[in-house]
Amino acid sequence: MKLKDKVAVITGGTKGIGLGIAAEFVKEGAKVVIGGRNPETGAAGLEELKALGGEAIYVPCDVASTDDLQNLIDKTVERFGRLDIYVANAGTNDPYKTPYLDITPLEYDRIMDVNLKGVFFGVQYAARQMVKQGDGGAIINVSSVNAYLGLNSQMVYTTSKGGVQQLTKVQAVDLAPYGIKVNAMAPGPIATELAFRVGSSKELRDTVVSRTPIGRYGTTEECGKLAVFLASEDSNFIFGQSIYIDGGRGFQAFPAPGYKTVTYEDFDMLEQMKQK
Ligand SMILES: NC(=O)c1ccc[n+]([C@@H]2O[C@H](COP(=O)([O-])OP(=O)(O)OC[C@H]3O[C@@H](n4cnc5c(N)ncnc54)[C@H](O)[C@@H]3O)[C@@H](O)[C@H]2O)c1
Repeated sequence: MKLKDKVAVITGGTKGIGLGIAAEFVKEGAKVVIGGRNPETGAAGLEELKALGGEAIYVPCDVASTDDLQNLIDKTVERFGRLDIYVANAGTNDPYKTPYLDITPLEYDRIMDVNLKGVFFGVQYAARQMVKQGDGGAIINVSSVNAYLGLNSQMVYTTSKGGVQQLTKVQAVDLAPYGIKVNAMAPGPIATELAFRVGSSKELRDTVVSRTPIGRYGTTEECGKLAVFLASEDSNFIFGQSIYIDGGRGFQAFPAPGYKTVTYEDFDMLEQMKQK
């Protein structure tokens, strides 16, 4: 087991990629704290983790609130005595694809407070605890392929995710002397509610898949496996990097050559999610 007895916090860990990461962590022996805003989703997430035999708790946490972020760390230490791994995963986007000329300061703040400020201070509080413990730690920020692509339908989101990648570099430089390793993972299209809020019709999802050379959405489990690598000793000489997990999406601006049809497993997954 790669994370035996490590204590891990995952923000937005009650569903989607966050829950996928929590599940893979539990399988590798970690004790897990999932932060989230909805107690019902939290309870459902915990059930999945416990079914895997994991030790896990849910802590209410809106990452736009610095008080909530500090409380998340405090509750973790209260329950498990320490903190080894922090995943800044919670994120939000713009389902309406608001054009640049119409974006308001309120909407800008809504997304930035979660996607960038939430990562800035969440990691700071986690790192303070790790420094106090004195034996290092691992931090993973969740960016996006949008940090690389200039998708103008998600102006604030894209800006925030670019910021996360630069933040990851400076956090890595600043925290390396304490033995704290900071990296980011940058997903392309992963079959979750967030992705399907933007790809809200079959046509839109078809377009996404046609621009993803591997020809499908990725899974939350695949993201979880990358997070295990970045949290474990296997990645101990990797610092400040953003690892793309995107089926080649970042390199494919137009439909892939030979592209014909997609498999619809992804959409079955969406239906299953809706029924939950
Ligand atoms: N799914 C994709 O295709 C994709 C691609 C690139 C990046 N990402 C990133 O992956 C991360 C996870 O997204 P997902 O696809 O699992 O989406 P999701 O909507 O399924 O899950 C996002 C989680 O973050 C939580 N969240 C949102 N705002 C929050 C807040 N203020 N405080 C606490 N939690 C909050 C949500 O409640 C949810 O649990 C996000 O940072 C997202 O930007 C996703």
